[in-house]
Amino acid sequence: MHRLLLAIETSCDETAIAVLRGRELLASEVASQVAAHQPYGGVVPEVASRHHLQRAPQLLARAVAAANISLGAVDAFAATSGPGLASSLMIGASLAKGLALGFGKPYLAINHLEGHLLSPFFVGAGEIAPNVSLIVSGGHTLLVLVDGVGQYQVMGRTLDDAAGEAFDKVGKMLGLSYPGGPEIERAAQDGDPARFALPRGMLNSGDANFSFSGLKTAVRYLLPKTTAEDRADLCASFQCAVVEVLVAKTIAAARAAKRSLVTVSGGVSCNEELRRQMSLGCERAGLDLRFAAPALCTDNAAMIGFAAQLHLERGESTPLTTEINPNLALA
Ligand code: KG4
Ligand code: ZN
Repeated sequence: MHRLLLAIETSCDETAIAVLRGRELLASEVASQVAAHQPYGGVVPEVASRHHLQRAPQLLARAVAAANISLGAVDAFAATSGPGLASSLMIGASLAKGLALGFGKPYLAINHLEGHLLSPFFVGAGEIAPNVSLIVSGGHTLLVLVDGVGQYQVMGRTLDDAAGEAFDKVGKMLGLSYPGGPEIERAAQDGDPARFALPRGMLNSGDANFSFSGLKTAVRYLLPKTTAEDRADLCASFQCAVVEVLVAKTIAAARAAKRSLVTVSGGVSCNEELRRQMSLGCERAGLDLRFAAPALCTDNAAMIGFAAQLHLERGESTPLTTEINPNLALA
């Protein structure tokens, strides 16, 4: 039986609601708050929660209309319960719990990272194959050994900044608008990636951990010695350093775990240079590779709904007394 599920994502600066029938996506509404945070050059928690509160009711109406369903027909309600900003998570989780309580339907609390990690499989039949998963976003950079739904082992993670955070911080240094990732990618298009020798943090550390703060600091020191004409080369050199480390460490992790499939998800996986280099690297290493669809890379509720359906199919649900957890671990 294909059950109707409504999922809510409010862990950071995207308010998102999706509706799924079984593994089929009926609606995926995303209200970005980027413009509200742009003046501050980053996400302001108080501004984020205020926007979630304002946007959620309209978005709920829009998702229900787009899916052409009635709320009363929904079989289960899901929300991201962590990790993320406490005051933002609370809004989506409270809304989903309220709907579950009001309609007498199950509630599912979903880990945001699980949403990203499963998103490359949200296509076709949606079967999950064992893989080594790179989650690379503004808040997270980690490598996970995936054996199936709910079977995750973290192999390594960033010890300081997330890759997306490094893009955003370097973007801010360069006076680019927030978020810096897409801006740097655009600026890098006309640049020479070999112009500036920047550090490849922990490239040869022998484990699956990452570090991007040294790279960010190197750009900070280099900046006063450059002019506006050097910007494209600087962006290309920075992007190249991030991509090189992500690709090399992901392939090394897949080899170490003896896995033949690599998956990549999260906001930074929108980056075309990362897609190109990861594809080349995996091809050379004889590894299969799957990316999340671009619309599923940055934060959205469709990926939360997909993860929730997989858990619901296994007969799982979450007690309404379960609280949000800003530091929720994946495994
Ligand atoms: O997955 P996401 O929407 O939110 C988190 O869960 O963190 O990821 C947002 C991050 C931001 O840091 C943004 O700069 C980065 O993804 N990003 C990119 C690109 N598009 C988004 N980074 C590099 N290149 C891009 N094209
Ligand atoms: Zn995310």
